[in-house]
Amino acid sequence: MSETAPAQHLCLDSVTMAFGRRTVFERLSCCFPKGEISVLLGGSGSGKSTILRLIGGLVHPIDGRILVDGEDITKLANRDLAKVRHKIGMLFQGGALLDSLTVFENLALPLREHTDLDDGAIHREVDDRLASVGLHDIDDLLPNQLSGGMRKRVALARAIIRKPLILLCDEPFSGLDPISTRQVEDLLVDINRRRGITIVVVSHHVASTMRMAEQVSIVLPEGIRTGTPEEMERHEDPRIQAFLTADQDRPAGSLEEVEVLPGLGS
Ligand SMILES: Nc1ncnc2c1ncn2[C@@H]1O[C@H](COP(=O)(O)OP(=O)(O)O)[C@@H](O)[C@H]1O
Ligand SMILES: [Mg+2]
Repeated sequence: MSETAPAQHLCLDSVTMAFGRRTVFERLSCCFPKGEISVLLGGSGSGKSTILRLIGGLVHPIDGRILVDGEDITKLANRDLAKVRHKIGMLFQGGALLDSLTVFENLALPLREHTDLDDGAIHREVDDRLASVGLHDIDDLLPNQLSGGMRKRVALARAIIRKPLILLCDEPFSGLDPISTRQVEDLLVDINRRRGITIVVVSHHVASTMRMAEQVSIVLPEGIRTGTPEEMERHEDPRIQAFLTADQDRPAGSLEEVEVLPGLGS
């Protein structure tokens, strides 16, 4: 590895994962560099969400190591795992906002639960985080009074409310119109640049992906292929080409589609 290569912040090392008797992947290895934006692509059901959930400590592997900010979380007891999880913000598909709580309460909740901040400080933190996603004066609204793009931005503000070192985003652009997609994309880049947060994005939106990503990883049946966007664009594997040339407005080619391409080898 060259001296200028960035430090790896998150690594799966030979991880085998199954739900019951259903194996999702075997001996999978991949890393995500510190302070960079990485994008994870792959067919539907290839295990992208599972990779994020493994890193977040929400599900546990059968075998292998999962390194988060230098610690193997598979070895940690619950209390120590909770400490590592505090370093991670998660933006899940659907946003996961609580519909019965106002925007303010949705953002204040994690601060009330996990910090000793007083009400004044909580107000300042919430306003600061909403401003950082370009939202003002919406504290008293309920999630269902917001547009899809605004909900996603509130969910993003909530994901970074506790100043995580790491942000995991599962399909942050799904269901958004092109303008909202671009806004969320710009916000993620902005958060990465201003706060130096390591970001991993699972996305089908190839155009956004290629604009944002410093690293692109693609889940294939035999393992993950990783490179810079330029390297991946030049990659000779037709399955990788199929992902990267998929219509931007549709999900990237599913594995079912690309598996019929010639010259696969494995
Ligand atoms: N909680 C779960 N219980 C059982 N099977 C699951 C669960 N979560 C995911 N799976 C299975 O694991 C595989 C990978 O799922 P997932 O990580 O969601 O894929 P992706 O995000 O790439 O579409 C799929 O076959 C899915 O059905
Ligand atoms: Mg998924």
